[in-house]
Amino acid sequence: MQKIFEGNRGEIYLIDYHGKRAILKRQKASKPNTIQKEANILYLLEPLQIAPKLYEAHKDYIIMEYLEGISLKEALKRDRKSALFAALRICFMLDSVGIYHRELGRYYHFIYSSEGMRLLDFERAQLGKRGKNVLQFIGFYLRDLDLQKEIALYKRDPKEGFEALVRALDVLR
Ligand SMILES: Nc1ncnc2c1ncn2[C@@H]1O[C@H](COP(=O)(O)OP(=O)(O)O)[C@@H](O)[C@H]1O
Ligand SMILES: [Mg+2]
Repeated sequence: MQKIFEGNRGEIYLIDYHGKRAILKRQKASKPNTIQKEANILYLLEPLQIAPKLYEAHKDYIIMEYLEGISLKEALKRDRKSALFAALRICFMLDSVGIYHRELGRYYHFIYSSEGMRLLDFERAQLGKRGKNVLQFIGFYLRDLDLQKEIALYKRDPKEGFEALVRALDVLR
């Protein structure tokens, strides 16, 4: 097991899981147990294919798909428009199912690869929250655009608002 990350709440290991790479995320014993909540959210998100697949869930650790790719920061440099579309679409899907991620400002939680954009770390996420991901994402990554009209529409009607946002982004190069 190779430790690749140590946070104050947990540890991340890159492991060999039946011949393929996987991530083991373990919660430190002294910390409140959020790993089961994260497991539950990953399980709920599975059909949407926007987060790592959950392989195993245990009391204080989970095993999940290893997402290999580049961060949102790098993806934005390579192709701003498609990276924004892909990440915003994830935010819209999360809003639609009522999962509030709460850490979208950390660009390294978005991983982009040939399989598209995906999102990590649902440890602090909240279930059953009216969607705030899209609006938060705009606040972090699209502050330079004037999207007041689209934002107002999104608050009234998320589906229409999302379509308006996509059209507004389409003018970007
Ligand atoms: N499924 C995964 N695939 C690839 N890298 C991962 C995965 N899960 C975690 N990581 C890496 O480990 C780091 C920490 O994981 P994260 O879930 O964000 O832990 P924490 O909740 O402690 O911040 C991530 O920023 C990422 O670099
Ligand atoms: Mg994190």
